[in-house]
Amino acid sequence: MMWISSQSKATLVLSPNLATIEHMMKLAKPSEKYKKSFLEAVQAHKESGEKDGHLNLHSYEWFDENFESMVQTFLDESEGKNLSDDRVPSTEFWIVDGDQWLGRFSLRHKLNAKLERYGGHLGYYLIPSARKKGIGTWAFSEVLKEARKLGIEKIMVSCDESNIGSQKLIKKFGGTLQDITTIPENDGPLMRWWVSTLSS
Ligand SMILES: CC(C)(COP(=O)(O)OP(=O)(O)OC[C@H]1O[C@@H](n2cnc3c(N)ncnc32)[C@H](O)[C@@H]1OP(=O)(O)O)[C@@H](O)C(=O)NCCC(=O)NCCS
Repeated sequence: MMWISSQSKATLVLSPNLATIEHMMKLAKPSEKYKKSFLEAVQAHKESGEKDGHLNLHSYEWFDENFESMVQTFLDESEGKNLSDDRVPSTEFWIVDGDQWLGRFSLRHKLNAKLERYGGHLGYYLIPSARKKGIGTWAFSEVLKEARKLGIEKIMVSCDESNIGSQKLIKKFGGTLQDITTIPENDGPLMRWWVSTLSS
């Protein structure tokens, strides 16, 4: 098992097992050292046409120009500092292999009215080449442990009914379906799940 690091992205050429993932990956704090590979992910994401809340929020140019302040905002939000009225404290975990940015998990420490409707406690995204190799399962498990450390006993996760990968991930952790709803902010039915942090 190895990662081949090219100039633009790392490519997992063989399926890793959990021990290998744990050895190679880590959940890192946002940092400027991941800027290059983060921007490559933004570019690839834009070209793919996929929708994802965070990477679609801004243009490539915005991320490039505002990367440092974005990192600082994430670090502040984890400590509940400088929050605007619609934000709750949240921890941004970056999944990295060396300096290579592979994705993110965002853990909101509590829900507000908007997050109860959609979004929940957790948002996540992996670059396409890192998917379906067990990395999401590993990261989900690690983030559940972090949630438990924060005293959160169960987390709400929402996902599109059409998002089979996300549903499988949630079910792997014993997710209980609250409901399937439609809201103006989302295209198509939205599933709202609860996952206990106590079993991970
Ligand atoms: C959802 C996501 C984080 C899953 O991470 P991942 O690393 O691909 O997940 P894993 O490899 O740990 O797989 C978990 C399970 O889901 C299955 N799975 C993952 N993606 C799948 C897909 N697209 N279709 C069908 N099954 C899928 C895996 O086969 C595995 O099932 P198994 O344990 O029975 O074999 C990742 O696919 C992703 O980033 N998707 C795009 C962004 C997104 O959808 N975010 C969630 C918004 S709610």
